[in-house]
Amino acid sequence: MSRRYKLAFLIFLLITVGTKTFAKEPIITVNVQKPVAQVQPTMWGIFFEDINFAADGGIYAELVKNRSFEFTKPLMGWKITKDDNLTDVLVINQDEVNPANPRFIRVKLAEGEKPVILTNEGFRGMGVKKGINYHFSVLARKFEGNTQKLQIELVSSAGEIIGSAGISPDSKEWKKYSVSFESSATDLNAKLNITIDGKGELDLDMISLFPDDTWKNRPGGLRADLVQLLNDLKPGFLRFPGGCIVEGHELATRYQWKKTIGDIDQRQLIVNRWNTEFKHRLTPDYFQTFGLGFFEYFQLAEDIGAEPLPILSCGMACQFNTAELVPLDQLDPYIQDALDLIEFANGSETSTWGKIRAKMGHPAPFNLKMIGVGNEQWGPQYIERYVLFAKAIAEKYPDIKIVSGTGPSPDGKYFDYAAKELKKLNAQIVDEHYYANPEWFLKNATRYDNYDRSGYKIFAGEYAAQSINTCNPDNKNDWNCAMSEAAFMTGLERNADVVNLCSYAPLFAHIDGWQWTPDLIWFNNLNSFGTANYYVQKMFSNNKGTHVLPMLEDGKPLVGQNGLYASATFDQNSNEIILKVVNSSDKIQTVKVVLDGAKKLAAKGTITIMKSDNLNIYNSIEKPIEIVPAEQDFLVKGKVLDLKLETHSFSVIRVKQLK
Ligand code: AHR
Repeated sequence: MSRRYKLAFLIFLLITVGTKTFAKEPIITVNVQKPVAQVQPTMWGIFFEDINFAADGGIYAELVKNRSFEFTKPLMGWKITKDDNLTDVLVINQDEVNPANPRFIRVKLAEGEKPVILTNEGFRGMGVKKGINYHFSVLARKFEGNTQKLQIELVSSAGEIIGSAGISPDSKEWKKYSVSFESSATDLNAKLNITIDGKGELDLDMISLFPDDTWKNRPGGLRADLVQLLNDLKPGFLRFPGGCIVEGHELATRYQWKKTIGDIDQRQLIVNRWNTEFKHRLTPDYFQTFGLGFFEYFQLAEDIGAEPLPILSCGMACQFNTAELVPLDQLDPYIQDALDLIEFANGSETSTWGKIRAKMGHPAPFNLKMIGVGNEQWGPQYIERYVLFAKAIAEKYPDIKIVSGTGPSPDGKYFDYAAKELKKLNAQIVDEHYYANPEWFLKNATRYDNYDRSGYKIFAGEYAAQSINTCNPDNKNDWNCAMSEAAFMTGLERNADVVNLCSYAPLFAHIDGWQWTPDLIWFNNLNSFGTANYYVQKMFSNNKGTHVLPMLEDGKPLVGQNGLYASATFDQNSNEIILKVVNSSDKIQTVKVVLDGAKKLAAKGTITIMKSDNLNIYNSIEKPIEIVPAEQDFLVKGKVLDLKLETHSFSVIRVKQLK
């Protein structure tokens, strides 16, 4: 080889290795005229469970923890400052009179004694904002003695009073008193002081503090920033209230929807089953007040344009815990709960349960179309119970779709058994759960390519790539996990004829109060952020399309060739072709995408890219936008797109067909 050729060869090698490209430029064909399946409007949704302080201490904007003294330790979250033994704070239990809310406190003040101060610490503090109004309310009764004044003070973490107001209870009967005040400062860790002065005995219950700036400014409502993040996903459905929370650690602590509607002070509090689930993440102050109850879940679904998907206990407590079973001949009340729930959601204003919905402020039906029977159950006991539920629901409400499940794993003997039995029973929609490492997600991009088309539809109801392993407290929402989920999701999308609903899990986590990681959205008492996984979900659900298009290289879908994973849809509403491509390799790749059969295309398309060569990168409260998508325009020339796919990237490409 001459010196000149040697030099040229060396330069060629350097360029090739330096830019790390594959030698052959693949040609990918998208057949625009041949949609192969419809994408259901429900395709990409949300899984909500009250885990990690998702509800109380999270999206439910109540700032007072243990507002009705019903925690196992009645004064948990409260500090009492008093000067003398003659003055006292008693916990009274009137279970016979008010079983749903039996406890209250009686503050006994002796003549001439110093005031009593009740301090509530909030949920790992109270997040308050300068210039925002706070609404304080309390149920009070003057039991004995002179008028007493309640001085309400919001106290900053530095000990300064940043808001105050007064209340003078005047009734000898239980009565609600309310007052509002503005916070003069922003603080992540404020607390609430209630100073009680005078002489006599005063009864107090349901001590509450809510910000004014809730979602849609609803009194006693939800945290606006967290709902906004959900709304931005444009979710197809909202599954609630879980998760294992549906089942309960034991049957007594299962989720009973009827106890979560109506007056707030009559919603019977129970322990949250995640309270002591993990020894490494104990949260003994985790209870469920049900301020976010079934009415509010339906309302939330409606607000964010998602189909409601309630999941109910099927008479089996969590099989990882007590595995308690309701005998088959005593299952009727559980089945009745399901039938009544459908009436609560859809019944007329004159029906028994529809009337309650109307009284709560929603005369129009919620238009429920699906209901889930059991969460993560397994074995013949589940199938036996499912059969009874399915029969009763189908008889009374033949249009309601029933969601059943295959248990906690995506394979193995429990999965195989449930899948086989549910198919025999003509199950309609079956929930599968995948918690696995990123490699599993890449490998399973083909999971549904050869799935049985004659059976039930799939609800990919809980999935999340685990950077270490399931339940490991060191799992991170890193880019490696999120990118592998994106690759897997191209497989879900390609098979949208059989996969009808999908949701990442869990949804929320409080930075100081979580039990389970990874999670889609993290927050503290003031701020919140989406993880890399959140943005992947958003890129799919905001770019859903209405029909699946075949996207093939050499006649085969892209499922890992050169590290590429891809799917394509067409949106008949906007007349756009939408491509989703993951390049999981460490090489930049250029590909040609032939839009076969496309009509004339707009001169400009958009490409939204998420990428990082640091696979371990993740967003955090300190650095919430370390990895987020960026959108840019690109020029479309003809019907062949020349795409440059960055290393370790996920891209969504939108190209418009002109009419
Ligand atoms: O998402 C966390 C838990 O994982 C859910 O509660 C349960 O269904 C699954 O085991």
